[in-house]
Amino acid sequence: MDNDPNKLMQMKVAQDAGDFWFPPAASTFAAHVDDVFWFIYWFCAFFFVLIMALMMLFVVKYRRKDGVGPEPSPHHNTLLEVGWSVIPSGMLVIMFWRGFVGYMDQRTPPDEAYDVKVYAKKWNWAFGYPTGDLDNSLHIVNNEPTRLTMTSDDVIHSLYVPAFRAKQDVVPGRYSTMWFTPNKPGEYALFCTEYCGDEHSKMLAKVVVEPDQAGMDKYLNLLADDPNKSPEEKGQQLYLKRGCAQCHSIDGSPNKGPTFKGDYGSVRKLKDGTTCVVEDNYIRESILEPMAKVADGYQPVMPSFKGQLKERDLDYLIAFIKSLKGS
Ligand code: CUA
Repeated sequence: MDNDPNKLMQMKVAQDAGDFWFPPAASTFAAHVDDVFWFIYWFCAFFFVLIMALMMLFVVKYRRKDGVGPEPSPHHNTLLEVGWSVIPSGMLVIMFWRGFVGYMDQRTPPDEAYDVKVYAKKWNWAFGYPTGDLDNSLHIVNNEPTRLTMTSDDVIHSLYVPAFRAKQDVVPGRYSTMWFTPNKPGEYALFCTEYCGDEHSKMLAKVVVEPDQAGMDKYLNLLADDPNKSPEEKGQQLYLKRGCAQCHSIDGSPNKGPTFKGDYGSVRKLKDGTTCVVEDNYIRESILEPMAKVADGYQPVMPSFKGQLKERDLDYLIAFIKSLKGS
């Protein structure tokens, strides 16, 4: 539930160990994908070495020598020409077939998969569980097929988990799906692999493969709305989960958006030269219609959260921002 991009980067370094060539293999797709990769790799390496060696050999062997004239070269050799067309074509068909089998498997989710919704926006990920709760990290159960139904609020993003060897574009205005079966508990990095703007490289998330259903239930219980939490605490959770932290600091440090520290009640200078007071209505409007009153000195890059935050979520966020007033 941690959204600090720096921590995610550290996690990535710590978790993406794998071996020298590859990230860890943590899904049922990985073995096949790696097999196809190595097959094509060694195939190409073999012919590269063979062709280069023969070429160099012939350069030396058939170089021009004093007293030796050019030999007549053959004009046509049916057997040779058919051979060098059919044999490589057959090899390409083998490569295609091996890739195609794996591709079809990746494109066909089983019916009984665990469903997680994915919402991408500049520049964070949100994962919606069947319980209705949202989080910015993806928790799934080991050995359980999982299907992601994904959409984007703004531009094209792409969800990539190297450890699962699984990647799929996330497109605005429609759903795209992908699936995988994790087979190794642990934490893995999730990347956006479609260039989507300034902070594309920071659009990371954490995938946690829970060892069993009990671990998943425990996580979902923690995630569920806790009645004992104060509105401020719930607002802080939303601040972390919904990506506000990406651009708005709470310690006064500069970022893409104004800091929330001491923000509430202050007078804000706007881009159009006017001023306004940071109070409930201004915060509410800025979350739903970020372009209405852009703060002076900042780029108008904030996405709208209209339709994605409930009224009470807005109240929680306002309560949280209010609590940072004098801190
Ligand atoms: Cu989202 Cu790159």
